[in-house]
Amino acid sequence: MQNNSSSNWWKHGVVYHIYPQSFKDSNHDGIGDIPGIITQLDYIADLGVDAIWLSPIYPSPMVDAGYDIANHRGIDAQYGTMNDFQRLLNEAHRRGLRVIMDLVLNHTSDQHPWFIASKSSVNNPKRDWYIWQPPKKGKQPNNWITNFGKKAWRYDPNTKEYYFHSFFWEQPDLNWRNPEVKKAMFDIIHFWLEAGVDGFRLDIINLLFKDRQFKNNKIGFFVKKPEIYNRNQPEVYPLLKEFRTLLDSYPEKTSVGEIYTPPPGRTTLAVSFLGNGVDMLHLVFDFSLIFTIWNAAAYYKTINRYYRKLPEMGWPCFFLSNHDIGRSIKRLGRWTWHKYAKAKLHAVLLLTLKGTPFIYYGDEIGMENIKIPKKYIQDLYGKIFYPFFRGRDRARTPMQWNSGRYAGFSTQRPWLPVSKDYSTINVEAEQKDYASILNLYKRLLLLRKKHTALHKGNITFLTKGKNNLLIYTRTDEQEKIFILLNFSNRKKKAQIGAIGSAAVVLLSTHHRIKLSEEGVIMLQAFEGLVIKTTLLQ
Ligand code: NOJ
Repeated sequence: MQNNSSSNWWKHGVVYHIYPQSFKDSNHDGIGDIPGIITQLDYIADLGVDAIWLSPIYPSPMVDAGYDIANHRGIDAQYGTMNDFQRLLNEAHRRGLRVIMDLVLNHTSDQHPWFIASKSSVNNPKRDWYIWQPPKKGKQPNNWITNFGKKAWRYDPNTKEYYFHSFFWEQPDLNWRNPEVKKAMFDIIHFWLEAGVDGFRLDIINLLFKDRQFKNNKIGFFVKKPEIYNRNQPEVYPLLKEFRTLLDSYPEKTSVGEIYTPPPGRTTLAVSFLGNGVDMLHLVFDFSLIFTIWNAAAYYKTINRYYRKLPEMGWPCFFLSNHDIGRSIKRLGRWTWHKYAKAKLHAVLLLTLKGTPFIYYGDEIGMENIKIPKKYIQDLYGKIFYPFFRGRDRARTPMQWNSGRYAGFSTQRPWLPVSKDYSTINVEAEQKDYASILNLYKRLLLLRKKHTALHKGNITFLTKGKNNLLIYTRTDEQEKIFILLNFSNRKKKAQIGAIGSAAVVLLSTHHRIKLSEEGVIMLQAFEGLVIKTTLLQ
């Protein structure tokens, strides 16, 4: 590795989330692939991030875009070969970029040899690797439902039992109470660590264990205290401790857990997977910020709650968009000017908060959710729930590299339509435009690298979002950096006390270069400002 080789790189670095189908196609089939990602590593390194996380690239029938794995030790042919992946690792590492894989422990594809064996007979040695139950009075074993509200048990007429699936029926849940399952999965984790990957993103980690007795969930409008038995079981915590021990037996590995928390998010639950901060996961995604309305006080509350709930040695992480919930820019309103100004303010927030930022590919150029015409819908959710919900394809569209055909993503019609705005919203155009979102991201990432206070320092809030202004400082032994964010569409006066004559503007979304010395700053609508002062009091 070239740089950033401290074992805490995952605390101080920035992760770029790649959706492999949609990043770059190299073999002209309209689907992104690993050699395509390799061709863009210079772009990623130049952006200034420290790691990439790839959504699953294992062999899969793609019922759930690869989150249905049929072989944990390979690479799906649509993405390339194991050799391509090894080359990606080498080329990424050569540029100082770490590589994080997606790890789906909760379920496999129904095409996985484990499930095929499990399903073949009640006496098969792998029968108990999945969650099988006999019918109860001729019906489903209990009232558990999938994550999208349908019945979660599927009947197998051959062996006359039901199996449980938290997602699509083509994704049977594994039985983590069986020690052989754990052994098999830990062997797989070893396999990828030996191959050289730098960490894992753990899919819906709070779903792993289900109630031993298969008790009915108590939910519903009239239930005062809901009881849910198919997730959040305590057995997951000791398992994660073992997982951490395994990771720690290799140098400089990391992990980030996805905790499925329906809106408005449950920070307490999410951070519980950090254990004491050093004995379970390294990081967890807390979805609360995604469901927070655009208002400085509301943001303060959400962010501060996350900080407060963290275990003493725990470390936060933040993200604004992902492949499931869509792109943050969509939540920022309809007016173009407001939207881009807010997206820039969002970028300043994401990259100056204390915690590890995750950037979803394309957010750095202001890519949008798009409305996918029915005939192009790929996501099974969209196919099932159309027209009420068109699925998650909206934020999985091809990366917009240039204004050429198919936005430079592929020479062939891509697997999902390219957003119509690609002639202006694309990497090539934005590289040339100093005021673009892309150049703002690059400046912020550079700033973050340069100033240790921004990636290691403490954070102190100077306002709680009053007057729609969020002001905080990041401080270390060397410097104190002020971050001022105006969430309002009006000019706002911000008071930060005496800032000293040596105070300098490190960055402004509105390209200001000077400050007045009195410490009163007139912020433009949606302005984000980063100031460095030499006064350390
Ligand atoms: C969460 C993933 O992000 C999502 O895309 C997937 O459908 C489910 N987990 C099931 O693996």
